[in-house]
Formats: sequence, C-alpha cells, structure tokens
Amino acid sequence: MSPDPYVPVAAVADVHPGRSRTVEIDGREIAVFNAGGAFYAIDNTCPHQGAALSEGWVEGTTVTCPWHAWCFNLTDGTMTIGAFAAVDAFDVKVADGTIFVSRTPRAS
Ligand code: FES
Repeated sequence: MSPDPYVPVAAVADVHPGRSRTVEIDGREIAVFNAGGAFYAIDNTCPHQGAALSEGWVEGTTVTCPWHAWCFNLTDGTMTIGAFAAVDAFDVKVADGTIFVSRTPRAS
C-alpha cells in the first residue's frame, strides 16, 4: 500500500498570517507559509548557500531569503528575478483546521 500522498503538518491556528513553520516530511525540510490566509509550502533550504527560507521575510506571495535576499515565489518556488535557481513547491490543502502538505513536490 502506498503512503498517504498528503501529510498533516500543523494546525491552521498555529501558523499565523505572515508567519511560517518548518516541517519535515520523509527527512526533507519544508517551509510552510501563511501568506494572507493562504498556505504555501516550498523547500526550506535556499539553493544559494543553504539558509532557512522559513526565516525569511514574506510580502504578498514572495519570500526573501534572510541571508542574501534571493526572492522566491511561494506559489511555485521560482525566483522573482531571473531563473537561475528555484526551489521545489508542494501542494497544500486545509481540512478540519489542519494543514496538509503533499509528500512529493509539484512537477515544475
Ligand atoms: S543563502 Fe539564500 S540568498 Fe544566500
């Protein structure tokens, strides 16, 4: 039997708007963001030098890396300036007050 494709990671009430939380799914660190009430999940590790994107600044649906300010779209993990790097993005769903994140990244 294959594992459930979605993993419960946090209560909606525990991830306030503009905040984030780092979760681990199958040994992979994923940053879950609440951007204005909508939830997004991307790889937590910045592809530049490895900072935790969960500690970045969120404005709209963009997160800015806390170390050197690379910016990523929370919606799909692409960079907002240029296309020389990206992070994986994961589908998110909310049910019964719980945030669920896809076990596998969305196909880019
Ligand atoms: S580690 Fe993220 S921009 Fe440098």
